[in-house]
Amino acid sequence: MNKTIAVIPGDGIGPEIMTATLRVLDALDCGLTYDYVDAGMVALEKHGDLLPKATLDKIAKHKVALKGPLTTPIGGGFTSINVTLRRHFDLYANVRPAVSFPGTKSRFDNIDIITVRENTEGAYLAEGQTISEDGQTATSLVRNTRKGGSRIVRYAFELAVKKGRKKVTAVHKANIIKTASGLFLNVAREIAKEYPQIEFNEMIVDNTCMQLVMRPEQFDVIVTTNLFGDIISDLCAGLVGGLGLAPGDNIGENAAIFEAVHGSAPDIAGKGIANPCALLLAAADMLDYLGMVAKGDKLRAAIRDTLTNDRASVTPDLGGQGTTESFGAAIAKRVAA
Ligand SMILES: NC(=O)c1ccc[n+]([C@@H]2O[C@H](COP(=O)([O-])OP(=O)(O)OC[C@H]3O[C@@H](n4cnc5c(N)ncnc54)[C@H](O)[C@@H]3O)[C@@H](O)[C@H]2O)c1
Repeated sequence: MNKTIAVIPGDGIGPEIMTATLRVLDALDCGLTYDYVDAGMVALEKHGDLLPKATLDKIAKHKVALKGPLTTPIGGGFTSINVTLRRHFDLYANVRPAVSFPGTKSRFDNIDIITVRENTEGAYLAEGQTISEDGQTATSLVRNTRKGGSRIVRYAFELAVKKGRKKVTAVHKANIIKTASGLFLNVAREIAKEYPQIEFNEMIVDNTCMQLVMRPEQFDVIVTTNLFGDIISDLCAGLVGGLGLAPGDNIGENAAIFEAVHGSAPDIAGKGIANPCALLLAAADMLDYLGMVAKGDKLRAAIRDTLTNDRASVTPDLGGQGTTESFGAAIAKRVAA
């Protein structure tokens, strides 16, 4: 396959983990060409803009981007670049797989949960935020739509079918937030009927959190609204040992952006010890998206094999003494074999 993708190296550890990731993709020989574009602090310094129009144009042109973490400056009225990207390209589905990997410090070793989070509406957007003059009352709007609920629930069921998953759980708070969460739940119930081959259940969000910690094996695909998805997907990342192995896929009708869930890690930037696995797993999801499922699986298997059999190459966050470079090289060697 010959395909050009937009590559945003990003800030902090971004360029380090991106170099390791592209080295592995090259070793996989997937026919990808990289069109490098700037965003974040790098773009602000070079072009005076956190998210230059040229970057948006290139993502629109190639339709697929691999993105390193971006630093949004605190204060100064800057909007999150990630939120802006999701809005600009209407990336309505945020897909976050949490899978147990060997050699990681975690409570469980049998987790395989995909959280499908609605990415464009709901309480997370904090629309119409106001604070009263006396500073005593803060207000923001929660707006969920039938269109938003339908497309995310449908996406979750289609993903379940495509990946051979057995069950979809709709997570909500419709018992209390009767309109906004109730609309989402009603839509989920309706759409579930179109997929009789997939088991469907519904669960209130607070109970979901407890169940995830106590009996995570009951979950397969979770679909939920934006804010609940934000929290639950981090909880799931915690179940498999943290953000070092957590990819995040942002999918829309006309574009898709694949990234690591973690941030730019300024505390370790430049030290050469950042774990590249979350971005590599995002790259594996990108290969699936581009129709190269066997290559995506090969990449995941190489990560698993490296974590099991090549502990000297693994970065310190996962208990090794290796570097970003040695970890990437060990995985590249395996995918090339
Ligand atoms: N998707 C994104 O672009 C994204 C996501 C989250 C945070 N951010 C930004 O990143 C910056 C730093 O945020 P933060 O410190 O809250 O979160 P962070 O995820 O960058 O770091 C949290 C902790 O995890 C460690 N860590 C993160 N990724 C790691 C990796 N690959 N290997 C080893 N250790 C890793 C860091 O060293 C740090 O101790 C902020 O400017 C924030 O806005 C960006």
